[in-house]
Amino acid sequence: MGLIISDASVVYPAADGRPPVAALSRIDLEIENDDFVVALGASGCGKSTLLNLIAGFLSPSSGEILLDGRKVSGPGADRSVVFQKHALLPWLNVIDNVAFGLKMQSVPERERYPIAEKFVALLGLDGFQKSPVYKLSGGMQQRVGIARALTCDPKVLLMDEPLGALDALTREKAQELILRIWDETHKSVFFITHSVEEALFMGTKLIVMSPRPGRIAHRFDLQFSRQFLAGASARAVKASHEFIALREEVLGIIFADEEAVA
Ligand SMILES: Nc1ncnc2c1ncn2[C@@H]1O[C@H](COP(=O)(O)OP(=O)(O)OP(=O)(O)O)[C@@H](O)[C@H]1O
Ligand SMILES: [Mg+2]
Repeated sequence: MGLIISDASVVYPAADGRPPVAALSRIDLEIENDDFVVALGASGCGKSTLLNLIAGFLSPSSGEILLDGRKVSGPGADRSVVFQKHALLPWLNVIDNVAFGLKMQSVPERERYPIAEKFVALLGLDGFQKSPVYKLSGGMQQRVGIARALTCDPKVLLMDEPLGALDALTREKAQELILRIWDETHKSVFFITHSVEEALFMGTKLIVMSPRPGRIAHRFDLQFSRQFLAGASARAVKASHEFIALREEVLGIIFADEEAVA
């Protein structure tokens, strides 16, 4: 079971005098339950298009996407998205933002607030329930976005560069927090990043994509996140010979791609 993408292609039609764009070509990808799949690749290689396909915001031009055996034909509560720019509602406080997705699903108020409280605590936001979100730091706002995505108990969590706007230290803390939550909640995750180090640290599977047309050019199985969750420090994992060797290999692939495109 899990999510299966079979031979999926996306062509954006010609518009405003520009030719059609073959954004994705013949993508095969399986995201099993408990998988943390990370997508890396040059800008424009189709990472967000792939995420939008899984989210159901976009339909494939050919091929299909199955979630637990059922065809994905639109957005659903079994998939939640965390965007790079947390789509929070600035006029609401933390707890109302976290509870907002449940409200949209018509979950009654007396049920949605206990659920929201649980995820506020899980994301380390206890004490900030009544704070307006515009007063929070970027890292805290991103945690509000993740808490909200988790409230509807999705099977798949989709994250499009969720940590890209954070400073280095906050970003490392957020990586660790996301891994702990993934481990605790047993979600499948599809995670986009531009950071090779982040990709290697977080994922159980890595796909490296290439542009024009967007396709999966390389795949790696990873176990660094498991080492971290088994008790190793994040710094020790990222400084290991194995990690550094793979980081250099993946960087080599990405730089070669960029040169081919330039
Ligand atoms: N709505 C659209 N209409 C037409 N072309 C699009 C549309 N959305 C994306 N594209 C094109 O499809 C290709 C893939 O875009 P996509 O946003 O999926 O890339 P990406 O890998 O997420 O890039 P980035 O790293 O910059 O976020 C690009 O060439 C882009 O210009
Ligand atoms: Mg993108």
